Amino acid sequence: MILEGKTALITGAGRGIGQGIAMSLAEAGANIVAADLDINIARQTAEKVQQLGRKSLALEVDVTDPDSIHKMMQQAEEQMGPIDIAVNNAGILSIHPIAELSANAWDQVMNVNARGVFLCTQAELAVMRPRKFGRIINIASIAGKVGFPNLSHYSASKFAVIGFTNAVAKEVAAEGVTVNALCPGIVGTGMWRGPDGLSAAWAQDGESEEESWERHQKTLLPQGEAQTPEDMGQLAVYLASAAHVTGQAIAVDGGFSL
Ligand code: NAI
Repeated sequence: MILEGKTALITGAGRGIGQGIAMSLAEAGANIVAADLDINIARQTAEKVQQLGRKSLALEVDVTDPDSIHKMMQQAEEQMGPIDIAVNNAGILSIHPIAELSANAWDQVMNVNARGVFLCTQAELAVMRPRKFGRIINIASIAGKVGFPNLSHYSASKFAVIGFTNAVAKEVAAEGVTVNALCPGIVGTGMWRGPDGLSAAWAQDGESEEESWERHQKTLLPQGEAQTPEDMGQLAVYLASAAHVTGQAIAVDGGFSL
């Protein structure tokens, strides 16, 4: 198994893409630290990992809070040993036309999606650089490659993640640490399917949430069907094992951004 003996930390690991990536890394042999704002769902992921026979630890973290991140890193390394792989996945989304986008809504999304990735990466590099080994994977989005109407703040946060990833990758390239961005396209997690998700918000008159979800897959995706958290996990396993891929922003989007 390609990641045997490695330990991976994933933020936002309690559900959705974060949980899918945690399971794929565990299937490839890694032990897992599942961190989330919601400790109860982080525990559920940790239990699923244990059922595969890997070690796991659930931790509570708020990626907008430097003290909380510091505590997460300390507890993770004390209980699980050196963190070799870090997936900065925690993210949020809200929908606002530009004329109605408040400074508060802008700040909330930027705080979690962009500032959170910066703070986590900084804390992860502090332990990885002295050991001359690390694999950092920042979860961006195709919204970080092309803009989306009514999601200008979200797109800005994901463009920020890609620019940050590229710059930091160069800064640490000679020190055994790779830093890449993974850009999901459309995945049927809470962001699309939840009560405040995109399918419900973008439903046409008389259209159910389910019908809206089906329509968006057919109209937006050349392949006609959404990607899965496991699709993201496959690329994460590759990036976690590749020595000479760094600074890239790789889309797993079924051709959406072509
Ligand atoms: P989700 O809403 O299902 O899961 C997000 C997770 O992050 C939740 O477990 C939540 O508790 C956690 N989280 C939120 N704020 C946090 C904070 N401050 N500190 C720690 N954890 C926090 O969303 P999904 O879809 O799994 O998204 C994961 C990542 O993938 C996000 O960065 C998102 O922007 C990105 N993405 C998702 C796409 C999709 O189609 N679902 C498409 C492109 C990117």
